[in-house]
Amino acid sequence: MAAIGISTGATMNGGQKLAMKYFTVAIALFGAQVLFGMLAGLQYLYPDFLFGILDFSVNRMLHINAMVVWLLFGFIGSVYWMLEDESGIPVVGLGLGNLIFWIFTLAVVVVVLVYLLVQIGPGEQSSIWLINEGREYIEAPRWADIGIVVCVLAFFYNVAGTFAKGKFTNIGGVLVMDLIALAGLYLAGMYYTPNISMDQHWWWWVIHLWVEATWEVLVGCLMAYGLIKTMGVRRKIVETWLYIEVALMFGSGILGLGHHYFWIGTPEYWFTIGGFFSALEPVPLVAMVVHAVFDAGHHKMKSSNNPALAWIIAQAFGNFFGAGVWGFMHTLPQINLYTHGTQWTASHGHLAFFGAYATMVIAFLYMAIQKWRGDVYMSGNLVGAWKWKWAIFLLHAGMIMMVMALLISGYEQSQIERAIGGSTWMAYFEAQGHRWFVQGMFWRQIGGWVFTAGFVLLAWDLMTIGKRETRRAVAVVEESAATA
Ligand code: HEM
Ligand code: HEM
Ligand SMILES: [Fe+2]
Repeated sequence: MAAIGISTGATMNGGQKLAMKYFTVAIALFGAQVLFGMLAGLQYLYPDFLFGILDFSVNRMLHINAMVVWLLFGFIGSVYWMLEDESGIPVVGLGLGNLIFWIFTLAVVVVVLVYLLVQIGPGEQSSIWLINEGREYIEAPRWADIGIVVCVLAFFYNVAGTFAKGKFTNIGGVLVMDLIALAGLYLAGMYYTPNISMDQHWWWWVIHLWVEATWEVLVGCLMAYGLIKTMGVRRKIVETWLYIEVALMFGSGILGLGHHYFWIGTPEYWFTIGGFFSALEPVPLVAMVVHAVFDAGHHKMKSSNNPALAWIIAQAFGNFFGAGVWGFMHTLPQINLYTHGTQWTASHGHLAFFGAYATMVIAFLYMAIQKWRGDVYMSGNLVGAWKWKWAIFLLHAGMIMMVMALLISGYEQSQIERAIGGSTWMAYFEAQGHRWFVQGMFWRQIGGWVFTAGFVLLAWDLMTIGKRETRRAVAVVEESAATA
């Protein structure tokens, strides 16, 4: 029996111990994301800052690649976290899973060092293979691409093998099917062509079909599991919701891809298809809010893990606002003509990635830490609860401040550069130098500092929460059909 408040991991199964490793790397990379984001933000205010040493393009690349990788590590960790619990048997091929973790992490370190120390190369195939591929968000060089495919195949073997041998729950089934699509899509980002329209066409298959289809379904599975674990919501209810969400998500998100095909040289029918289907994308996100809020209300917010539940609720709203509302704002071609590629896009990108994905990984971090400390108490009146509460508040306050500042700058760009200036080169610079733009960049940086403070507090909280607790976790049992 593990002692309460002591980090021994004695109550954890093999998959969960492996998950802890993924989570550790995830939080470190989250820190790197914040650091490089702050440096890139400062370069908007002081263009000479680190010029020639760590240019904006490099900082930006490190910022968004760190984000993609920490979220992927967080997702992989979360899946390992629930795997044995959900399937009822030990992870199949756990030894391989552990080995792959080390290979994956080492590869990430090498890629980051090359980004930092080598940065750029000649316009030849060797640069694509060894330095970076130049495709935003998935810049990793070709050798690392192939490595990622191998790692993901091993991960898939662990997950599908375990569910196939153990219990194949509905959550497990959706998860396995989704992982096939998620991994398969990555291949679309490896296709090399010097034709920029074709390159963008396939690149969006990875970016859009990840975040607006496969990642959404993945967090849907995680939310379903999280609601059962933290509140004891009836499995039948969450699984029914999950199926509805998946149907709506794929129904709108797949053809919603067309909202990236307005201006890249693809046929004109994408205006109609992209505009129509992407406008429907907020619908499943509304369903997710209703789902989470209904369950939480039904259980009178009583949970075995208050921080995790708070982050799950934050996810439902963050996803709805960041992806649903902020996405909808610029998804019709008539509007996108003016907003495309302005800070408006960055505003949406920040709120959506943070609201939909960072939040869910953080919820799982709290679930993991609870068990790691021997199933410690984490409900109301938790000792030192101020830390998690301030962390969630500061992270959201900082994010909202950044998002609003970016929106104002973006609005100014659409007006001055596009509507009035007619998208000329001159108008672009006029918009960049405008007072409203510059002030937006200033306030984004202030929001960045608030966010950074929230991150530091979050990391500190994750290292200390539950240490001084002596009570055992509140047990939640899955409610029976009769009480629902
Ligand atoms: C969690 C889900 C989502 C995430 C993480 C996300 C993230 C992003 C990011 C990072 C970009 C910028 C890509 C670039 O660098 O060019 C982007 C662009 C875009 N997103 Fe989303 N998004 C999500 C969901 C949505 C939804 C549901 C809609 C529509 C209802 C939407 C509409 C758009 C549009 C129209 C663009 C293109 C903006 C432009 O023309 O510059 N997004 N998204
Ligand atoms: C300290 C906080 C942060 C600061 C100061 C910051 C700053 C920046 C800057 C300067 C850029 C480049 C924008 C451009 O090209 O004009 C950027 C891009 C981006 N950041 Fe952040 N960031 C922060 C946190 C985050 C977080 C927490 C997330 C998501 C979890 C995030 C997601 C993104 C995305 C998706 C882009 C690309 C947006 C696009 O292409 O439109 N950032 N960030
Ligand atoms: Fe999209």
